[in-house]
Amino acid sequence: MNNVTGHLLTFLSVLTLATSSLAAEPTVPAARAANQPQLIQKDGRYTLMVDGAPFVMLGAQVHNSSNYPEALKKVWPAIQDMHANTVEIPVAWEQIEAVEGKFDFSYVDTLLEQARQHKVRLVLLWFGTWKNTGPQYTPEWVKFNNQRFPRMMDKNGKVSYCLSPFGEETLKADKKAFVALMNHIKNRDQLHHTVIMMQVENEVGTYGLVRDFSPQAQVRFKQDVPQAVLDHKKSPVALAAKGSWSEVYGDYADQYFHTYAIASYIEEIAKAGRAVYDLPMYVNNSLRDPLEPMAPWKDNFASGGPTYDAIDIYKAAAPHIDIAAPDIYSADSNKFKATLDRFQRQDNALMLPEMGNAAEYVRYAYLVLGRGALGFSPFGIDYTEYSNFPLGSKMTGKPMVEPFGKIYAAFRPMERQWAQWAFEGRTYGVAENDARTDQTISLKNWKATISFREWQFGDKGMFPGIKDLPEHTDIPNGGVAIAQISNNEFIIVGQYARVRIDWAGANDGKTSMWGRVEEGHYDASGKWIMERNWNGDQTDYGLNLTGTPVVLKVRMGMY
Ligand code: DGJ
Repeated sequence: MNNVTGHLLTFLSVLTLATSSLAAEPTVPAARAANQPQLIQKDGRYTLMVDGAPFVMLGAQVHNSSNYPEALKKVWPAIQDMHANTVEIPVAWEQIEAVEGKFDFSYVDTLLEQARQHKVRLVLLWFGTWKNTGPQYTPEWVKFNNQRFPRMMDKNGKVSYCLSPFGEETLKADKKAFVALMNHIKNRDQLHHTVIMMQVENEVGTYGLVRDFSPQAQVRFKQDVPQAVLDHKKSPVALAAKGSWSEVYGDYADQYFHTYAIASYIEEIAKAGRAVYDLPMYVNNSLRDPLEPMAPWKDNFASGGPTYDAIDIYKAAAPHIDIAAPDIYSADSNKFKATLDRFQRQDNALMLPEMGNAAEYVRYAYLVLGRGALGFSPFGIDYTEYSNFPLGSKMTGKPMVEPFGKIYAAFRPMERQWAQWAFEGRTYGVAENDARTDQTISLKNWKATISFREWQFGDKGMFPGIKDLPEHTDIPNGGVAIAQISNNEFIIVGQYARVRIDWAGANDGKTSMWGRVEEGHYDASGKWIMERNWNGDQTDYGLNLTGTPVVLKVRMGMY
């Protein structure tokens, strides 16, 4: 935070104190209101503006049941060790409206207050009608009233576990609770911007049933596909240009119809919430395999969710949802990268609300930040001693958190600069792949070559008798992120990798070499502070990045 912002915030906190005793809503100074968190887009790249400047979420998502004041005691120490700047944390319908119409926001108030004390932002996860597709976070008055809040039905009229997207009362009740929540956040937080984003529902869709076959769903299934869907979603098979779902989408019709129904339901909730308090909103996705050839649903993913093939339907039906975001729980390097490719689009910003917290995922921090993501969050970051293996780490506590924490610690002092560079398209990233092969990055006029499992002294092949491999490289855990901050200058952060940079522009017979390789950090005013200059053994064989990520400011030159 720069000084001007610091003074402004002090002034505003005084203002908040002065106004908080009043029952009426505080008057928001125009400048502060204009600085609401918002997503902006330029040239197909996105950034999240927080307090008027680009921000990158170095996130941590807590376990599912850590959304209670008592449980928060085991959240904050982990967040501190993680060096996260953003905490993703649930607000459950069952906890704010256990009795219909009686809202209790005491947890939200505690959370806001403690998040501010710990100087982190919040992304709130609205666990409403659907959480991992099921209704377990709805209040009991919803869960067990199937008449009023109907579940989906299969072709034989058998009731599914999943609430129907056609339940009018369900939508009305969920919307009412979400609007009450947004209203509360507005009243308590519009001067602070602690809450920077909302996730609407959690991993929606349905397992085991492609869509609702209840009588009211059947009537709608026979209707024509809405024009907005036709405009956005091309059929994977060439059929009718318009008409019913089956006529247009053939074997994909059931899935896409269900997707449209769920996306429309979510749209109603998001739209109503944003009308009260306009925060960026997104949906998260339990993925379909990004590498499998496209085929109709065969019980291999949750039908109706924002899977990569269905993003277009969410764009058509839910314009108040900014992002369809992947939750990644496969550390396979080809799948990981393919998922990023599928979700990072001109019309869809890249953000990873969840990824595994195991050691195999640590390297992806560099890939994701280098690709200019709005942010990402390993899942299961708190000290409640619940291990997420096999989705995530077998370990709990500090050993699970610290490998991510080291990376965040390196990025934190330059989080605002990094977000700005990413928005300008200056950032790049790689993660070591499972084959451990070298990777190259095409920079403007330069090329970076990244290799892995190298000793710090000498080139591969220089010492044929040495068979030992460097410590801590038994699993792929290397990664490098680079920002090209001017024509010949780079910021490099990474771990367990070697970086070389070579001229790749027009060749006029000259040779390139390191000019300066400064290790250091940015201070609070944004000034680069050099700690030492790398030279000799530290640069002769490339820049060898160890298990402790450092920030290098590199200048290249030619002779
Ligand atoms: C994805 C869900 O979105 C999370 O809430 C959690 O259930 C994880 N799966 C598994 O730990």
